[in-house]
Amino acid sequence: MIINKGFPNLDFSKIPSPCFVLNEQSLIRNLELLQKIQKQAGIKILCAFKGFAMWSTFPLLRKYLSGATASSLHEANLCFEMYGEKAHLCAPVYVDNEIEEITNISSHITFNSISQFERFSSIAEKKNLQIALRINPEYSEVETDLYNPCVPGSRLGIIADDLPDILPDSVKGLHFHSLCEQNSDTLERTLKVVEEKFGKQLRQVSWLNIGGGHHFTRKDYDVNLFVETIKSFKKKYKLDIIAEPGEAIGWETGYLVSTVQDVINSHGIKTAMLDVSFSAHMPDCLEMPYHPRVFGAVESGTNTISYRLGGHTCLAGDFMSNFHFEQPLEIGDKIIFDDMIHYTMVKTNTFNGVKLPSIGILKSDGSFKLVKDFGYEDYKSRLS
Ligand SMILES: Cc1ncc(COP(=O)(O)O)c(C=O)c1O
Repeated sequence: MIINKGFPNLDFSKIPSPCFVLNEQSLIRNLELLQKIQKQAGIKILCAFKGFAMWSTFPLLRKYLSGATASSLHEANLCFEMYGEKAHLCAPVYVDNEIEEITNISSHITFNSISQFERFSSIAEKKNLQIALRINPEYSEVETDLYNPCVPGSRLGIIADDLPDILPDSVKGLHFHSLCEQNSDTLERTLKVVEEKFGKQLRQVSWLNIGGGHHFTRKDYDVNLFVETIKSFKKKYKLDIIAEPGEAIGWETGYLVSTVQDVINSHGIKTAMLDVSFSAHMPDCLEMPYHPRVFGAVESGTNTISYRLGGHTCLAGDFMSNFHFEQPLEIGDKIIFDDMIHYTMVKTNTFNGVKLPSIGILKSDGSFKLVKDFGYEDYKSRLS
């Protein structure tokens, strides 16, 4: 039995396991919406590579978005080489042996602290980069501390008390990032706080980057409120606005296909052992934590069978509980995790030497294209 209830017809003989499968049509749907938001609100939307960096899709992204944001030298390199543009940089810290190279291939740079600005801004200025400071509004509605840049004592961004009233001449922009998977009402409230705390400085710059965490492509996202909020903010401060979502680009654009390799029964607890790992391939499930959707899994009921899904690393906690199926799982069944494109490929690791999932695209014409298969060399090349 293949667990594929509610799942589009896929020819599993063509899809290796494990494999991330991006649905091209779903990505286009997201990009079209983001393009519409850019036009209606009069802003630029960049792709944050930290959340989505599947470079085989960059030609498509370029048609709709206004560039990309990088948080490291390697992401900036990827932007320059594969996206064909200089990146907007925003990293918590720039390191001295990378600053020359990273500023050669970037158009904008945001400094996370005054000391980083003092140390490196002259290098950026000589190369005509647009310079910004990251501010920390100390207001956030993010409930999980792991994802909250505004926790007391946060190392991310300059708090209002520490930002000079008069900004240095070279500072052309401000940047904040304090949202995570949030709707436009959170942005509205956040902007009010930003105005209260940084109103003076907002009048001295020409652009504001409102970071990521805007869940633009989620079904209940209030686009109209976003557009109205941004329009009135722009009118008041005469600023260009930039947003840099990562998750919203890859949101609900594909799956991670895996296969049951064994079923273990211990003290009545059944674990379906897979050829993927939560720890190595879906780390947010354990970190956030959140319970991923699996095609064919149902609500618990009298006739359902309960399973843990087990990862194939030796980490004792590499499993998740409470998946219920109407039929017993068998070796060879496909377990398909939904919405596994953003913050997965960019975070995978080879702990235990496990193979990285392949990467493929379900094209708009229904055909499947394998774009990457990983092997032993990928594991070996990370060690010496
Ligand atoms: C500075 C910055 N910009 C953008 C993003 C992207 O956020 P998201 O993927 O939630 O939209 C992040 C995520 O951590 C971030 O730290």
